[in-house]
Amino acid sequence: MRPDILVVGASGFVGGALLRAYGRRAIGTYWHSATPGLERLDMCDAAAVDALVDRLQPRIIIHPAAQPNVDRCESEIDESYRVNVTGTVNVARAARRTGARYLYFSTDYVFNGKVGPAPVDAPTDPLSVYGRHKLEAEVFIRENLDNYVIARTCGVFGFHPQGKNFIMALLDKGRRGEPMRVPSDQWGTPTYVDNLAQAVQELAELDFVGIAHPVGPDFLVRIEFARLAAEILGLDPSFLQATPTSQLGQAAARPVYGGVDNRSTQALLRTRLMSAREGLLAFKKDMEGRA
Ligand SMILES: NC(=O)c1ccc[n+]([C@@H]2O[C@H](COP(=O)([O-])OP(=O)(O)OC[C@H]3O[C@@H](n4cnc5c(N)ncnc54)[C@H](OP(=O)(O)O)[C@@H]3O)[C@@H](O)[C@H]2O)c1
Repeated sequence: MRPDILVVGASGFVGGALLRAYGRRAIGTYWHSATPGLERLDMCDAAAVDALVDRLQPRIIIHPAAQPNVDRCESEIDESYRVNVTGTVNVARAARRTGARYLYFSTDYVFNGKVGPAPVDAPTDPLSVYGRHKLEAEVFIRENLDNYVIARTCGVFGFHPQGKNFIMALLDKGRRGEPMRVPSDQWGTPTYVDNLAQAVQELAELDFVGIAHPVGPDFLVRIEFARLAAEILGLDPSFLQATPTSQLGQAAARPVYGGVDNRSTQALLRTRLMSAREGLLAFKKDMEGRA
């Protein structure tokens, strides 16, 4: 059977989980991280996007590709705009032109984090370059497409082959007993990556058009999430150093009471969005299976 799902950014963390979930039903792209079996694509090149989409004729395009390094975006503003806005517009236009359903990944960073998990219709007010550019892409999609889902997610955790995320770093440092500074005042809604992939697969097949919040139901401060992870992973939590944001020297402002409210999205889905504990237990099992 010809794959009818295209995952743009399948070499990344979330895209990789989507590709694992879809198996042969999907084809994916990479840009710098050469990956066997994936198509090479720079989404900033509109002609290349059009050529790939015309050749593959996907029924659904799922788009996790981005420059998601929030601190880098503060200084590399042009790069952030090129990837997070122009790149998205190129893929969204190709979806519209070919009649493909389009699922775009966005973020809780479109909010200012003053009030906690934001519902889908809460007013946006990004604090960072990354947040502003992700919002600009959202607005383009809302104004120009009629068959789309904007999937805002937050605090995604799970296996990453290169170990490049919070939970993989925590596991590594915890095993070595190396100190790890963890924000004591940044709140969010942690989301297990394989559960996210399953929810997004389901969203892709619904008639629903609009904004979805596929995230876990728990609203947790980062240090509490880290302590829960240490407990579940059997690590002595003394390596975790609770640190206020003001002492972390992060270039981009964070939405302190961040996260998004998943209730309207959960109501659409058969997939149950996992609590932080359930996700961490699934992560532990996944890691044991890989050992
Ligand atoms: N991870 C989280 O906690 C989190 C939270 C909220 C929202 N999100 C959103 O979720 C999405 C996925 O995040 P992630 O953590 O999976 O990011 P990631 O691991 O950094 O993956 C980014 C992907 O984008 C691709 N990419 C970058 N520039 C590209 C370009 N010019 N053309 C084509 N592809 C390009 C990368 O390809 P190469 O590596 O091959 O260059 C990679 O496959 C993003 O939209 C992010 O904003 C993530």
